[in-house]
Amino acid sequence: MNDFIPMSRPYFDEEEVEAVAAVLRSGWITTGPKCKEFEEGFASFIGARQALSLNSATAGMHIVLKAMDIGDGDEVITPSMTFASTVNQIVLAGARPVFVDCDYDTLMPQASVYAKAITKRTKAIIPVHFAGAPADLDAIEDAAGTIPVIEDAAHAIDTRYKGRHIGGKNTAIFSFHPIKNITTGEGGMVTGNDEALMRRLRLLKFHGIERDAWKRYGKGSDPSYDIIEPGFKYNMTDIQAALGLVQMKKIAAITRRRSEIAGAYLEGLKGIGLDLPGVPAYEHQHSWHLFVVKVRALERPEFMAALAEANIGYGMHFPACHTLSYIKKLYGAATLPVTEEVAGRIISLPIHPGMDDDQVNRVIAVVRGVLA
Ligand SMILES: Cc1ncc(COP(=O)(O)O)c(C=O)c1O
Repeated sequence: MNDFIPMSRPYFDEEEVEAVAAVLRSGWITTGPKCKEFEEGFASFIGARQALSLNSATAGMHIVLKAMDIGDGDEVITPSMTFASTVNQIVLAGARPVFVDCDYDTLMPQASVYAKAITKRTKAIIPVHFAGAPADLDAIEDAAGTIPVIEDAAHAIDTRYKGRHIGGKNTAIFSFHPIKNITTGEGGMVTGNDEALMRRLRLLKFHGIERDAWKRYGKGSDPSYDIIEPGFKYNMTDIQAALGLVQMKKIAAITRRRSEIAGAYLEGLKGIGLDLPGVPAYEHQHSWHLFVVKVRALERPEFMAALAEANIGYGMHFPACHTLSYIKKLYGAATLPVTEEVAGRIISLPIHPGMDDDQVNRVIAVVRGVLA
């Protein structure tokens, strides 16, 4: 029997192991100099003035909504075809998620669809750079006018839009969950250029305390603190940041290998009863976080069973958020025809930089065989 090919797998070697071991040996393992180095490196890579390390992207979305004072009676526009974490944070903040429908090909909403959903209660628009392709930011920003655009960049490390990295302009939230293109085990980063907002996020991230613990506990330092606004406990550790720093050095190689695999799939899976992911027409660099196909020739459970039989992993990104039970209970049933159609057909095929050509070819051969 062939080895199992997982849908995703972190991409580490001894360098990550050594970097983590060095932090463990150093005696300082929580937020400290490695987090600071990771934040500075990430901000400069992305082209943002600041970056703030966190224990997840979800935590980032929570404190960004809070720092923007989004709450009761407010509306936030976001796609239904996304991971539920953003939607949960909107609801938990007391605001209402206003869901927009996506395009069949890219699984992302058009700017005009966001524009139509704007009301006088709209407090933010949260586009998602789906699967590693950039949303059409210029057009979405035009539609938003003065309404803040918060970018869900969880899938978009090394994604570029018209020559610039995602996350360099608006407030953006990245994820380093193990499935993501680079990982810190769990973790996230907020990037931004609004210094007042970033200062407030820094407080909300860690109890409301301004000075980092490592600065309060050093030799001869002042251990006192004050709290002006209560905060959460969302800090990244130096163990995670050490991992992230090594992963960052590999980003170009990771994107290259993911793009090669995507290229092989786009060629090898043509014309066989599934719809391949559409890529945006505007200039961009895709980071191929996911490879999401829409299966037409078979019912999805049959397709998944055939992949499982052939020892090939798969994912489903994502169940439509507007059809989640608690959303329907809160707001009633909405109709988003394209999202509903794709939600019943999508499957994510294996894509990660550790896959060799034999494994890529095996996925292609199995999928072709199943749909033949
Ligand atoms: C689109 C999207 N947004 C946000 C998140 C949340 O990321 P995290 O797990 O780091 O909180 C994810 C995670 O998978 C995601 O796919």
